[in-house]
Amino acid sequence: MSNNGEREQWGSKIGFILAAAGSAIGLGNIWRFPYITGQNGGGAFVVVYVAIVFIIGFSVMLAEVAIGRRAQLNAVGSFKKLKGGAWAIVGWMGVAAGFIILSYYGVIGGWTIKYIISSWTGLMEAGAAGKAGDVFGGFVSNTFQVVFYQALFMLATIWVVYRGIGEGIEKYCKILMPALFVILLILIARSLTLDGAGKGVEFYLKPDLSKITGDTVLAALGQAFFSLSLGMGCMITYGSYLNKETTIPSAVVQICFLDTMVALLAGLVIFPAAFAFGVEAGAGAGLTFVTLPSVFSKMPGGPLWSSLFFLLVFIAALTSAISLLEVVAAYFIDEMNWGRQKAAWLMGLAIFLLGIPSAYSLTGNFKIAGKDFLDAADFLASNILLPLGGLFIALFVGWIWTEGARKEVSNDGTYHFNIMEAWIWVCRTIAPIAIAIIFWQGLRW
Ligand code: PFF
Repeated sequence: MSNNGEREQWGSKIGFILAAAGSAIGLGNIWRFPYITGQNGGGAFVVVYVAIVFIIGFSVMLAEVAIGRRAQLNAVGSFKKLKGGAWAIVGWMGVAAGFIILSYYGVIGGWTIKYIISSWTGLMEAGAAGKAGDVFGGFVSNTFQVVFYQALFMLATIWVVYRGIGEGIEKYCKILMPALFVILLILIARSLTLDGAGKGVEFYLKPDLSKITGDTVLAALGQAFFSLSLGMGCMITYGSYLNKETTIPSAVVQICFLDTMVALLAGLVIFPAAFAFGVEAGAGAGLTFVTLPSVFSKMPGGPLWSSLFFLLVFIAALTSAISLLEVVAAYFIDEMNWGRQKAAWLMGLAIFLLGIPSAYSLTGNFKIAGKDFLDAADFLASNILLPLGGLFIALFVGWIWTEGARKEVSNDGTYHFNIMEAWIWVCRTIAPIAIAIIFWQGLRW
């Protein structure tokens, strides 16, 4: 487990795919994707989203994994090794983004633990009485409780990262991701067999082309980036633990596919159930933590369904949080010669502390320029650091390290990647231009 000796590696290709899919599949899929789709034209939005994932998302993810596997280092070290100079700044921004995103991600992760428990202790009764909103409001305004659950969630994250790549991240993702798929399928079966479910499916997926505007395309691009964990060196870090024999493009396609499937399927749990019980399908935190508890409270076996659902969200959040901490820890391990234990604990603790203002800001009493601290942190990371990182990663492969990238993706010429030139071309032109546009639009505070 120490930083001396050989770099740790994934035990198998499927281990890598499940860990990377674990990173990608998170709150972004279950919490954000369904309502963004519902608001932005349903099936028509899905078509735009899928196209963006497989053209731009795939290309940037492939670029990240190739960079990491070639350098066999963390995000900062990879850029230093492959090119040096100011490029290390791209890695730095990634480490900073990991730090910031995990600080508030851990807060929301904590809510999921609280809700797994509350499903059995009063949440259903409150939901049945139309008071799920009060429960949520009461919970988030009690900062001590929120921080307590945030601490539990961070401890779980630290524990896995502390155990390393094979014995920690890979081992846990190999258990947790299949569990996540099974729970998701059980919940879909439940939701789709409710009377009146069809109306929810229709609302969710009925294509409404009139809603596809420039803004929709931007929403899809921003969502794709966050959802695929791109732009902050997460896939560079995970790629650095890959052996040289693995063929990267097929692994990356599978990761993109799994992430997109789970996002789409999450909507098939949420909307049919909300419509079957005539509950208004609101947005964001409200949809997950207020609407759904009241939906579950109306089902026979409510506590079971509710706790299963929040377990699903917990698993999704945990496997993403692990990857966020790993980006930061890998930097300290490789560049500062820290041991893994020290890196996981100290950085986990520092990130936990940075999350406390986000936890407190839920009381509504802590704002920065009109935004809650949590929203401000999310804005800085998701709207500024991730797109900028993605932009430079695409440019790096498209213009600076192109020959190296060709070699890495073709396993030094032994594997024929049949869309190599199209990929390079996307990295050169389409991806940077598209990302530059979302970046510009995303600057609206
Ligand atoms: N992809 C995660 C989600 O959809 O919730 C969030 C995330 C994880 C973003 C890891 C970036 C990252 F490096």
